[in-house]
Amino acid sequence: MQCSWKSMVLLALASIAIQYTAIRTFSTKPLSLLCSVGLAPTGHAVNCSLKDLTRLGQETLQGSDQGCDDVISHTMPSPSLSLPSHDASKRTHILILATTRSGSSFVGQLFNQHPEVFYLFEPLYHVQLALLPRLAQSRNLAERRVMLGAARDLLRSLYHCHLNSLESYIRPRPANHSTDKLFRRGASRSLCSPPLCEAPLGQEGQSLVLADEGECVKRCGPLNVSLAADVCRAKRLVAIKTVRIPQISDLRALIEDPRLNLKVVQLVRDPRGILASRIETFRDTYRLWRLWRATGRRPHNLDLGQINSVCEDFLRSVSTGLARPAWLRGRYMLLRYEDLARFPLQKTRQLYSFLGLVLDHSVESWIINNTRGSSDLSSRQKFTTVRDSAANAENWRVKLSFDMVVYTQTACQPLLELLGYKTVFHPRELRNLSHSLVEDKMFLPFF
Ligand SMILES: *[C@@H]1O[C@H](CO)[C@@H](O)[C@H](O)[C@H]1NC(C)=O
Ligand SMILES: *[C@@H]1O[C@H](CO)[C@@H](O)[C@H](O)[C@H]1NC(C)=O
Ligand SMILES: *[C@@H]1O[C@H](CO)[C@@H](O)[C@H](O)[C@H]1NC(C)=O
Ligand SMILES: *[C@@H]1O[C@H](CO)[C@@H](O)[C@H](O)[C@H]1NC(C)=O
Repeated sequence: MQCSWKSMVLLALASIAIQYTAIRTFSTKPLSLLCSVGLAPTGHAVNCSLKDLTRLGQETLQGSDQGCDDVISHTMPSPSLSLPSHDASKRTHILILATTRSGSSFVGQLFNQHPEVFYLFEPLYHVQLALLPRLAQSRNLAERRVMLGAARDLLRSLYHCHLNSLESYIRPRPANHSTDKLFRRGASRSLCSPPLCEAPLGQEGQSLVLADEGECVKRCGPLNVSLAADVCRAKRLVAIKTVRIPQISDLRALIEDPRLNLKVVQLVRDPRGILASRIETFRDTYRLWRLWRATGRRPHNLDLGQINSVCEDFLRSVSTGLARPAWLRGRYMLLRYEDLARFPLQKTRQLYSFLGLVLDHSVESWIINNTRGSSDLSSRQKFTTVRDSAANAENWRVKLSFDMVVYTQTACQPLLELLGYKTVFHPRELRNLSHSLVEDKMFLPFF
């Protein structure tokens, strides 16, 4: 009953859903894509795809996927991989749930630097581009749900190293499983190291990749997606960073999937810091905010939704996480960017211990190299992580006007309280950097 009702609604969303379905239908391996490839023996393929189609409708239309999905996980044969690689069910899968300009590149590096991690930087970019090219920031609920369904399916495939499911979304469509259009490939160390890249890249391809992402793309040639999948399977962990999943509840189906063993690190940041950073980075989209800062007058047509949605999504997710529901037990860690900036090593150790991993010395060394040094504010790369993180975390206090700060903190009041960010009442208080606006607060994972 439930499912058929949802299928009806699905039809109403045809304009997007059909495109999504088309992408899946023309995929080289539609059945295996649907069934988290390779886990189902061929004999079960048809059954599985039918059920999975139901699941597609379900996932597409509902935030907290249950019902049909439960049927799937109970009837699906358990994984018995015969790959010369790590058993998928024993691997740890990591999702960094973030929003733009919340410090997610930095957190991504904490995994990217680990030699046993296969790291993907923002693969969902391709889903968004393929499904909603002109609605990059869609707040339309129906569209968001369709996209989330697609995003979840893709994440599930990627964690199983089925990288070819990503090919369906890349434009132009890769020929012969080879592409030079993978978004921010250079941000992933594995994708820029042998065997995926045979070009000499300095010391084992590390430092150069970080120094300049573009260098990887230039020197490594097109990415062999099949080979990348082999590399993925040979690693013990897959970590994916995304800013395209709004709330933790959107991930519930994946978190509850016993085959995935997914752990989510939710990265949050003071929304006033996010705003300041976005104004610098997304100059067109945030043009009116710059105008406000320059003139001292708030433009009447300012899009306040830009910051309100950040606070709404954070508030919902964090409230969910802090309520400690059973489905998040041992699977959720809240991380304030400011804490990571102030105590990078200590926080990274906590992070790794939550994931049940040993902190590799290469990660430690990367942290030491990248959290000291001068803060190079005229840095070449917008998304560089190489800077004095501690100095940056609170530098919004000298970048936003007092009015803008007041506006933002009023709009985000409940969130600020929940996360322990102090409200300011006077410009003097705002600019006095010798007292921090970040309360000492521990957000420990629960088990
Ligand atoms: C794909 O590979 C085949 C055989 O190696 C080759 O003939 C063909 O030109 C390739 N196609 C493209 C678009 O590169
Ligand atoms: C990509 O790698 C696979 C091995 O995984 C190899 O068989 C194939 O020839 C490679 N493709 C290209 C275009 O190099
Ligand atoms: C850290 O810096 C040292 C000295 O510049 C360098 O030898 C080392 O490779 C760097 N480590 C990482 C992980 O970047
Ligand atoms: C800045 O804050 C510190 C600590 O709260 C305080 O001692 C100091 O007087 C303040 N400075 C100014 C100029 O307000």
